[in-house]
Amino acid sequence: MLIGKSLDIRSSEITPKSSYMKRRKFIAGASAATAGLIVGRGLLELVHPGERVHAQTKLSGVIKSSLSTDESQTPYKDVTHYNNFYEFGTAKEEPAEKAKNFKTSPWTVSVGGAVKKPLKYDLDALMKLAPLEERIYRHRCVEAWSIVVPWIGFPLNALIKQVEPTSNAKFVAFQSFYDPHEMPTARYAGIAFPYVEGLRLDEAIHPLAILCFGMYGETLPNQDGAPVRLVVPWKYGFKSIKSIVKISFVEKQPPTTWNLAAPNEYWFYSNVNPAVDHPRWSQAKERRLGEFFRRPTLLFNGYGGQVAQLYAGMDLRKDF
Ligand code: MTE
Repeated sequence: MLIGKSLDIRSSEITPKSSYMKRRKFIAGASAATAGLIVGRGLLELVHPGERVHAQTKLSGVIKSSLSTDESQTPYKDVTHYNNFYEFGTAKEEPAEKAKNFKTSPWTVSVGGAVKKPLKYDLDALMKLAPLEERIYRHRCVEAWSIVVPWIGFPLNALIKQVEPTSNAKFVAFQSFYDPHEMPTARYAGIAFPYVEGLRLDEAIHPLAILCFGMYGETLPNQDGAPVRLVVPWKYGFKSIKSIVKISFVEKQPPTTWNLAAPNEYWFYSNVNPAVDHPRWSQAKERRLGEFFRRPTLLFNGYGGQVAQLYAGMDLRKDF
């Protein structure tokens, strides 16, 4: 991504191959040597040698979704130690460390704007809105790396139905939590906070878009967007906003963080498209974390069969 107005790409694409491979080797070793599983006091604790014990709550009663891919899942260690969460640093390994004391309870999400029933949900109430499903999705970052993650959540449309959007609701705007005291490194990130994102209403209603509370059977780790984030698998990862506190239904296309930071590089739609290069690098291929060879990137990240009709008649080169 771009940091401020400089041309700093923090990506595996420009990581020197030697250090990238060293990291891969370390990760492979660490997961192979996973020491054990301790279940106690309602917490599932996975202990990796040399790694802080983490304590995510196990999520029960999760339904398997038929919308999951059967591709191999990316190791947990990679998905939790190679993150973009600029509130907690711009280097990939920083959020795991800097977000570890982030307080995610109590947590409230307010939903309002052009709706008949504006509501404030505490996290427990929000999580009970619809049955939790495991959705194993491909997740493609604009920086040309990808992961496959067993997310846990439910379709965003379950929430949308509850608040009853009015005819003025054309877009949905999302806002992340931001507190400069709890996130002191955010001021060096070069982008404005709070992080904001948006979807067109029909995109938000699409059954593939989920409100996500967990992954790998447990609640989300802080660095992955605890306690609630969006996952929109056919779009570049930056649309999947983390640690959401506000959702508003609006008439006009809402501002989005990366578009505000670099409008020539990131536009509103941000659908994964191998034919539309980023101005500074190709989008034709991607590196799946944990793999050596790059693989071709798929239009709409492989979800075209389900979502292409949302963009019928649009010029995807212009509306990128
Ligand atoms: N949400 C917030 N609040 N802040 C961020 O910096 N980064 C985005 C997105 N959501 C970001 C965010 C980007 S650029 C990506 S690629 C994904 O989160 C990364 O998600 P992951 O770290 O779980 O892979």
